[in-house]
Amino acid sequence: MTGDAEPPCERPAPTPEEINRRKFLDKLCWGLGSLGAALVVAPGIGFILAPLLRHAPAQWRTVGKVDDFKVGETTAVRFQDASPLPWAGVTSNIAAWLRRDEGEAFTAFAINCSHLGCPVRWVPGPKLFMCPCHGGVYYQDGSVAAGPPPRPLDRYRVRVVEGAVQILTKPLPIETH
Ligand code: FES
Repeated sequence: MTGDAEPPCERPAPTPEEINRRKFLDKLCWGLGSLGAALVVAPGIGFILAPLLRHAPAQWRTVGKVDDFKVGETTAVRFQDASPLPWAGVTSNIAAWLRRDEGEAFTAFAINCSHLGCPVRWVPGPKLFMCPCHGGVYYQDGSVAAGPPPRPLDRYRVRVVEGAVQILTKPLPIETH
């Protein structure tokens, strides 16, 4: 051993051309990486968001035959949302209160309270719709009898086609404050 240390490996200082090339390659890598990430992620985001941004179309849904309902009675009926999301499952099923007024004349009330959207219950004795959340009460025509609901129960259009009772689904406006 002579004790001679090897000289440190000194790299020559990069030339301005090398610096420019490295900067260019850095930017190219970032650009291609970002593009690749966008190509991978964008279809997934589009798949998730597209149904949410699509305007829900009104849709007629059959809820039963005319003779399934007694005149004067108010019955809960269930039907599928106008534009169910692919992953909605049972949550795409919604309900309404349907009353057969006479013959083929029906009235359908939204089941959701106009206050904050809780499901209201029809109580046949006093002929009232009651909301369990904040004590909202509606008369049998859906108008507000008591409590915080700001407006009557929303209604759906109803029609009878070849003996089938159909409800026109639609998004319901709900108070958000
Ligand atoms: Fe019905 Fe508040 S949600 S009274």
